[in-house]
Amino acid sequence: MMKQEVGKAAADLVKSNSIVGLGTGSTTAYAIEYIGKRLQSGNLKNIVGIPTSFQAEVLSKQYGIPLTTLDAINHIDIAIDGADEVDMQKNLIKGGGAAHTREKVVDYLANQFIVVVDAGKLVTKLGSVFAVPVEVIPMALTPVINSIKQLGGKPELRMGLRKAGPVVTDQGNLVIDAKFNDIPNPANLEKVLNNIPGVLENGIFVNCADIILIGEVQDGKSIV
Ligand code: 5RP
Repeated sequence: MMKQEVGKAAADLVKSNSIVGLGTGSTTAYAIEYIGKRLQSGNLKNIVGIPTSFQAEVLSKQYGIPLTTLDAINHIDIAIDGADEVDMQKNLIKGGGAAHTREKVVDYLANQFIVVVDAGKLVTKLGSVFAVPVEVIPMALTPVINSIKQLGGKPELRMGLRKAGPVVTDQGNLVIDAKFNDIPNPANLEKVLNNIPGVLENGIFVNCADIILIGEVQDGKSIV
């Protein structure tokens, strides 16, 4: 319910004649649904979406949102995306859905990036709860795991349902979840992780989010 309200509030911020980055995850899924509904009702006109994942692409098509690619446009007006952790400086950890690489491309390009979360995602220190997702090309898995250990992280290969095999990203890569006890400087860790050969992208987003829409329950009611 909270996710639904916050997704709807974000969808209401989309203006006609705009290019919209469409994020990944269960909260953004509601935003995509409501954008589709606004299009259907005529309340929103002439938008085009840039999906951040195969999941976002499928959902957008299902809700009738016309899509394009980054080759066909020269800017993004607004992006809506979820997050796994948000700190007081609006730094994020993303990638719980293994989509952080494309999300980072789209969200950073947007003139306005709206983050949709429930209050449980707010932290005083980034990395307190969530591990940092790191997308790695498969042949570099072991050396990247070793490098993350040298940095003081606890790396774990992300496994899929019933641990039958590893999660594979939309790019055909693997995800290592790297837990750090303390991330004193998120911008620095973002750079250091991305400098490890074989790493494609990690889930730390710094200086990217403009507005955080937070869903919470007050007096038994979901509010944003
Ligand atoms: C996917 C993401 C998601 O936005 C993040 O995991 C939040 O998802 P949800 O809204 O389902 O909690 O970063 O890679």
